[in-house]
Amino acid sequence: MTQPIQAVRGMNDVLPAESPLWEFFEDSVRRWLSQYGYRGIRMPVLEKTELFVRSIGEVTDIVEKEMYTFVDHLNGESLTLRPEGTASCVRAAIEHNLLYHGPQRLYYSGPMFRHERPQKGRYRQFHQVGVEALGFPGPEVDAEQVVMGARLWKQLGLGDIRLEINTLGSSASRGRYRARLVKYLEGHAARLDEDAKRRLHSNPLRVLDSKNPAMREVIAGAPRMLDDLDEGSLQSFESLQSLLRVAGVAFEINPRLVRGLDYYNDAVYEWTTARLGAQATVCAGGRYDGLFEQIGGKPAPACGFAMGVERILTLLADGRWREPHAPADAYVVHAGEKGDRFAWSVAERLREAGLKAIFHCGGGSFKSQMKRADSSGARYAVIVGDDEAARGTISLKPLRQPGEQITLGVDEAAALIRAA
Ligand code: HAM
Repeated sequence: MTQPIQAVRGMNDVLPAESPLWEFFEDSVRRWLSQYGYRGIRMPVLEKTELFVRSIGEVTDIVEKEMYTFVDHLNGESLTLRPEGTASCVRAAIEHNLLYHGPQRLYYSGPMFRHERPQKGRYRQFHQVGVEALGFPGPEVDAEQVVMGARLWKQLGLGDIRLEINTLGSSASRGRYRARLVKYLEGHAARLDEDAKRRLHSNPLRVLDSKNPAMREVIAGAPRMLDDLDEGSLQSFESLQSLLRVAGVAFEINPRLVRGLDYYNDAVYEWTTARLGAQATVCAGGRYDGLFEQIGGKPAPACGFAMGVERILTLLADGRWREPHAPADAYVVHAGEKGDRFAWSVAERLREAGLKAIFHCGGGSFKSQMKRADSSGARYAVIVGDDEAARGTISLKPLRQPGEQITLGVDEAAALIRAA
């Protein structure tokens, strides 16, 4: 026997039993986004590699080791499956001059690809809903986006998601901080791990992001970014905090919070849960005022966030969410040459009347078809044989409550099912 082919490691099928949860989430998210005036944008999953190198940053885990990159053999171009959506969204905004009509509130959702070590909550193909406000200076819109997050958790009934915020300051203040941090880390060179040593001069802020427990103490003693902030960044961070207080959104300031992507400045934040173990972050984002220029556009302020759909769905599946029960209204069983043909048109007429109708496929006796009708969860069996076909009627049998089988016209049956 030939070996069955399996899916690529870290890339999951969403099976029919899981689909209702995905659809429930997607519907909730669409309603929530429109409440805040966000409009959809869809970008390709494949982009030129250079886009991600320039935006996410050369010395980041994503660009250094997690991208699915390959050469297009036809023209030698290096292409990459998108590891995130912000870079593509900004690229599209520049390419189509979207800000010409004023600032834009945009969202996208879809698969992203990162070659990480798969484990629960961490996949190689995962899904994000990304929300980007392009052309708005801070901090109101930053606060609005944080409040949006809080509202979504509330609407989904997720009460145990915590918010941590920080500010990375302007690029000038980051430069000052960087110099101080490098000096400190150099003073502790003997205690740095290999990753930290490598990053010490190329991207020292990321040393603070290390997950290595052996690095915890060095990191805890490092200088704090907050102490180097310029007046503008400080004021903006304080306004953000007061807007969040007004909105009643609880937060903690985490001065060590840095992000895994280089394009951020000023406010950054992460929403985390204690229910997902190591993959605790369900949503994260911040301001990225330099990104438009970095990828060749006119400068424009912007901020956004993205949530990890699989992680949120895991929380929902473990919690209160119950699959909405939407069985078919009618299951059409049929036999005989004329009966089969007539049943075919009966099913369409039921759908024309707005009902959900399953047409039995695959033959079998009336008895076996009735068993199938029953196990499908449908409310009624619609039975069509040659006799019914000759008279233009159907037989209707309730499946979920007691009741006799009755014979009636198709339109009458549709009305009865709808009213029941
Ligand atoms: P990120 O922090 O890299 O940010 O990803 C956002 C979220 O995607 C994470 O918090 C997590 O929930 C989910 N996620 C990331 N990697 C994986 C994975 N391998 N498996 C499952 N879920 C994952 C960004 O991507 C930025 N583009 C966010 C943003 C938008 N910033 C501004 N605008």
